[in-house]
Amino acid sequence: MRNSDGVIRTGFIVVPTLILILVQTQNSVGVKWLAMHEKRFSEWNTYQNCSKSLGLVKKQVKLCRTNLDLMRTFSHAAYIASKTCQEQFADRRWNCSSLLKVPKLSRDLSRGTREQSYVYAIASSALVHSIARACSLGVTTKCSCGSLPDKPPDDQHKWGGCSDNVRYGVYLTTSFTEASLTRKGKPKTSKKADMNRHNNGAGSQVVSDSLKIACKCHGVSGSCAIKTCFRSMPNFSAVGLMLKDKYIAAVEAKRKRKKSKKVFVPLFPHRQSVTTNTLIYYTKSPDYCSRDPKTGAEGTEGRYCDKGSQGWGGCDILCCGRGYKSFTREIVERCECKYYWCCYVKCKECTKTLHLNVCR
Ligand SMILES: *[C@@H]1O[C@H](CO)[C@@H](O)[C@H](O)[C@H]1NC(C)=O
Ligand SMILES: *[C@@H]1O[C@H](CO)[C@@H](O)[C@H](O)[C@H]1NC(C)=O
Ligand SMILES: *[C@@H]1O[C@H](CO)[C@@H](O)[C@H](O)[C@H]1NC(C)=O
Repeated sequence: MRNSDGVIRTGFIVVPTLILILVQTQNSVGVKWLAMHEKRFSEWNTYQNCSKSLGLVKKQVKLCRTNLDLMRTFSHAAYIASKTCQEQFADRRWNCSSLLKVPKLSRDLSRGTREQSYVYAIASSALVHSIARACSLGVTTKCSCGSLPDKPPDDQHKWGGCSDNVRYGVYLTTSFTEASLTRKGKPKTSKKADMNRHNNGAGSQVVSDSLKIACKCHGVSGSCAIKTCFRSMPNFSAVGLMLKDKYIAAVEAKRKRKKSKKVFVPLFPHRQSVTTNTLIYYTKSPDYCSRDPKTGAEGTEGRYCDKGSQGWGGCDILCCGRGYKSFTREIVERCECKYYWCCYVKCKECTKTLHLNVCR
């Protein structure tokens, strides 16, 4: 009987630990939907296509089923978010390669760092951007061209043409991202959930703020007698670039009770402030120099670096002072191509020597 007492006690210890693990994994589902990028060339035509294996939570599966016609747009958004993040950070120690692993979420995207803030922002801005464009292209009947002001832009111009529907993009994106920040019908209010929600919003805001007036000329033989204008977004690389600036200016913040709510305030209020379009984080980033499972850092050993540069991609900074190995590699290229009438191209083969450096 004494033994069974011991068993019960162990039971008590084991159960709460299990619950804790479950709660933690539940908490950080946020950008797992980026795994949808794999399906950007697939047909979305049955309910079975909306599956949790794509990183979707139950409510997102529901949204997927009611928006099947837009799911290719969603997977396109996942693709451009992931691609743009990797492009923007190609020469940084943290190079966004963790997005290649979704729906597995690595530690660098769940501890509340600056990098996490960027990833959440770019994910939702890509979704807003893609949906807004899908509306103006007529991909779905759920939305159409964006609205235009009543007052004409000026005397010579008229509103006309089809604007990108950013308002609908923001609406659907918010429902979709909020679905992963809700439990039992209530918004999650953990610090991490609040941070992700804020940065999702900042990402959407960047797209709204990027709307520009574009005009087209009409008239006989190219004369510009009539100009019609509409509101149009820049391409997504331009949005990615704006977000990179926001990443650099991201604000370290802590939560403070304000009446019945908790709000984020900057850690250094005399220097910075938190607004709806700033990115915020609460965990300092590691230097990402060496592999560390605790922070999700992959380390920079084996990364190609630029010997001549003093910048981020330069060997000094990228290799964190560990030095680098230089070697040469010969590649064969087509060169001195000539066009022969009609119709073929003949090229020579040239050998080119590349001088490469990789971090130790
Ligand atoms: C949806 O299901 C159809 C039929 O099973 C399949 O051909 C298609 O590839 C699926 N699409 C996605 C995105 O999984
Ligand atoms: C995107 O827009 C920027 C600035 O407007 C331009 O420089 C760039 O070439 C464009 N990229 C693509 C892929 O169209
Ligand atoms: C990004 O960094 C990882 C880890 O260091 C590396 O394996 C990968 O090759 C890098 N990606 C690019 C495109 O340089």
